[in-house]
Amino acid sequence: MIDRALVDEILARTDMEGLVGSYVTLKRAGANYSGLCPFHSEKTPSFTVFPSDGSFYCFGCGVGGNAITFVRRIENLDFTEAVSHLARRAGIRIPETTLKSAAPKYDKNRFYEMNTKAARFFHRALFADTPDARAALSYFTDKRKMEMATVKHFGLGYAPNDWSFVDYMKKEGYTDEELIVGFLCGKNEKGKLYPAFRNRVMFPIIDLSGRVIAFGGRVMDDGLPKYKNSSDTPVFHKGNNLFALNFAHKHCADRIILCEGYMDVIAMHAAGFPFAVATLGTAIRPEQARLLSRYTKKVILSYDSDEAGQRATDKAIALLEEVGLEVSVLHIEGAKDPDEYIRERGADSFRALLGESHTKFDFNFNRILKKYDLNIPQQKIEAIDALCGIIAGVYSSVEREIYIAEGARRLSVDPKNLAADVAKKIAIRKKNASRDEAKTAREALGGFGDRVNVDFAKMPRVARLEETVLGLLQLYPEYRTRAFGVPLLSEEDFLTELGRRVFLFIKESEESDGFDAAMFDTAFTPDEVGRIAGMRVERLRLSDNSTAVFEECVSALKEAVATEKKKDVPPSFDALNDLLNRKRSQT
Ligand code: CTP
Ligand code: MN
Repeated sequence: MIDRALVDEILARTDMEGLVGSYVTLKRAGANYSGLCPFHSEKTPSFTVFPSDGSFYCFGCGVGGNAITFVRRIENLDFTEAVSHLARRAGIRIPETTLKSAAPKYDKNRFYEMNTKAARFFHRALFADTPDARAALSYFTDKRKMEMATVKHFGLGYAPNDWSFVDYMKKEGYTDEELIVGFLCGKNEKGKLYPAFRNRVMFPIIDLSGRVIAFGGRVMDDGLPKYKNSSDTPVFHKGNNLFALNFAHKHCADRIILCEGYMDVIAMHAAGFPFAVATLGTAIRPEQARLLSRYTKKVILSYDSDEAGQRATDKAIALLEEVGLEVSVLHIEGAKDPDEYIRERGADSFRALLGESHTKFDFNFNRILKKYDLNIPQQKIEAIDALCGIIAGVYSSVEREIYIAEGARRLSVDPKNLAADVAKKIAIRKKNASRDEAKTAREALGGFGDRVNVDFAKMPRVARLEETVLGLLQLYPEYRTRAFGVPLLSEEDFLTELGRRVFLFIKESEESDGFDAAMFDTAFTPDEVGRIAGMRVERLRLSDNSTAVFEECVSALKEAVATEKKKDVPPSFDALNDLLNRKRSQT
């Protein structure tokens, strides 16, 4: 492990404002700094940097921690990598041996190599001399009208409908665990490994360094699911990658086309538009927007023309503009998606389409004009209202003025009235904005229940009190002395799994080297570190953290835990089975 003195020195030599400031525009807010959170989409800043203790916290989405947590998240690194990154930045050398012994759980290089072997296996299998392989190849070349050169360029493949993949990978020396964690295999109830992809045509996903990091596999008929994609693995995080960016990054300085499907991207590259990329089976995420902003100035959105595609377009516009990208939208008429369009109308028509790509305002305005009949007064009113809504969402006041003039002209209304309505909408939005943002962000991050503290929903009262007590323990050494010295608290007083782990971590570190909040990153995921930082920040916002408050919270927690434990424990599965068996034998 990298030793703690070194971590502390690196943190001490890291200026948090400077570090965060290179990703986020920060404004001074009293003793702290605030800005738009880089980890969720927001229009009012709730992301705060506290220079006093080198920490950050987003009051909107609940991410937080120190410089290490920040780098882990924003650069998608593990703990050791994040520490090395900060050390390099601060000009501190970490002894080589320290880094070796601090090797992360999985050796990433092995996973890259494993994926490459798998990709080669799939690619070879596509050219095998079997009816299945011939059908797969003909799916690409006949059904999807691909040139052989395209098949090879993208390294497309075929996952056979048998177990040969497993045998091959095991022969290559990969363990069951590696194959499962790498999302290449699963394990059935009998403990036997099976290939994760079977009888599918395969699309390897390749990162900017040319390493195979994941796969998408498509059925060749109408089977479901149509696509199967790798889940997150030690070398792959959906939100941080884009399909074909490994090719597109060399051609996209001016503009990039963002679309939905693997097939769309492949069709565009083959037709002479090598600056197309796709998200990986999900809506675009904030990290992907940021990734794009590193390689291009302008994004041309080219989603499917169906309703889902249009909704996705709206969301993407918001996310992309937030990272400072210019956005325009491609209108594809007479075809479902770019792939189909190019196949039916050819590359030249598509090029013309690209030249015509409408600005986002036109896109929205045209949609309104299509939807409402302006000859019917009631519909005209609704159209004006919708238009005001769109203009109110435009950040630049100069741009708003232009749109107001344009809108007024095309709807034949007085621009002054239109401007007044827009102003009203802006006022209402401001009022609702911060509240809504925080709520959606929390929902998005916390999922339906609570992914970070999974026991929260089961026992919210206990969980809340635990968080209060753990917040106080982090902040005040005197409470730690009392809690562990007497001892006032033990692990039995914590019922949620996360609460108990945090308690034990604080206790054990206090009893060895002395507690240090900077070390949470060694033992908790970034999401968990965020939650832990939240416990601290919540307490800092409150003025009364006196001994009396601490004592009250501790006894309230103990009481809540006692009540919780008394609750009827539902019979376990085994007990239930026993009961059923007994009933059966009686009859
Ligand atoms: N997708 C997915 N899982 C599904 C369906 C779709 O991950 N069950 C992702 C894939 O990345 C796919 C993209 O969403 O490429 C777009 O889906 P869709 O429009 O349905 O597919 P197309 O790309 O048009 O695929 P095709 O042309 O092969 O039908
Ligand atoms: Mn398609």
